[in-house]
Amino acid sequence: MAKLLEPTISNIQLACDHLNNNGVVVFPTETVYGIGASAFSQQGIDEIYRIKCRPSNNPLIMHVESFVMAKQYWDLNEIESSIIDKLSIFMPGPLTILAKRNKKIPICFENELIGIRVPDDKTARNLIHKLNKPIFAPSANKSGFVTSTTSEHVINYFKFENDLIILNSDKPSKYGIESTIIKIQDNNVSIVRPGYILKEDIEAILGFDIQYSPITSQSEHPGSSIDHYKIRAKTKMFNFVINDPNEFSDVYFQQYTTKYLAESLIIDFNSKNKHLIDLFLGYVDLSQDGDPKEALYNLYNVLHTINSHREVKNVLIFDSYSNKDGYFKAIFDRFYRCAQGQYLVIPIPQQLFQCQESA
Ligand code: TXA
Ligand code: MG
Repeated sequence: MAKLLEPTISNIQLACDHLNNNGVVVFPTETVYGIGASAFSQQGIDEIYRIKCRPSNNPLIMHVESFVMAKQYWDLNEIESSIIDKLSIFMPGPLTILAKRNKKIPICFENELIGIRVPDDKTARNLIHKLNKPIFAPSANKSGFVTSTTSEHVINYFKFENDLIILNSDKPSKYGIESTIIKIQDNNVSIVRPGYILKEDIEAILGFDIQYSPITSQSEHPGSSIDHYKIRAKTKMFNFVINDPNEFSDVYFQQYTTKYLAESLIIDFNSKNKHLIDLFLGYVDLSQDGDPKEALYNLYNVLHTINSHREVKNVLIFDSYSNKDGYFKAIFDRFYRCAQGQYLVIPIPQQLFQCQESA
């Protein structure tokens, strides 16, 4: 069985010894839990891929102690270097920077770029400091499934791993969503994964506009697959439209739509569909007051909780997020992948829709 340890000084030492002996350690960060190996241990890194069932072409982020350390591992021209210096304001913090790697990186993946992050969590920082080496760590979940924000989530995935140490945290991860990943290549800057640090925040610091990479680009960023954050139930995003009686009669709604909704759990936002609660099998709201930060914080926990209810076969995620900026981008990104890109438009009678509009 995996060992769950409190992050005391002696247990951090134990975890470091394990990493130095090619072992793997799960640790909390301010974003999500990571599953890490020493950047000097090919065997430890191979173990991460085995434990996670991660495709071997999907590279890992390197975690270091400080921005100064991070900068030692990139090969930057003057312009890129000045861009990265400006971004150091977010380090430590929930930002990963992808840029051209240099030869100092202990173990290299085939990619030309290396993603580096400086976590801002006491246990993560103590671990890296004590180890005195970078740690390669992806998120601590089985590949393709929902990310872990509590040690309980981690235990559910990995309890049967014999040689695994899990450093506990008594609280869920502070932000509850992975770091924003920004790519700097050939003087261009783009966001590869939306996260807690917003495009707007980055633009304000850089003084120019940047773009998002397309949501499905898989070849360069294997982890950006649409097939990610899966849960057990069939999951779709959805929205309601006013039913056109020429297309679907109210009888259709009574017979078919209500039956489908009665078999579906709804993930709502801002109480938009609360007045329809009796129509659904189950109902959960990511943020009743419509606070997107709260929604981000709750997102993975809600998906884990739904997963623990085996009787839930259909999940419908109400789309309050598409075509919006700010934190909505990261919420849409995770839900769109959780639904594997499937989206339903459900016609409902006008009187129900009007209620929804005014809710
Ligand atoms: O908040 C986070 O970033 C967490 C914590 C543990 O630090 N880590 C995390 O790692 O989310 P992971 O592996 O689950 O997601 C990293 C993403 C993957 O989609 C991977 O494909 C991409 O970053 N990535 C990492 N290194 C890359 C590289 N050199 N080139 C292109 N994409 C890269
Ligand atoms: Mg991940």
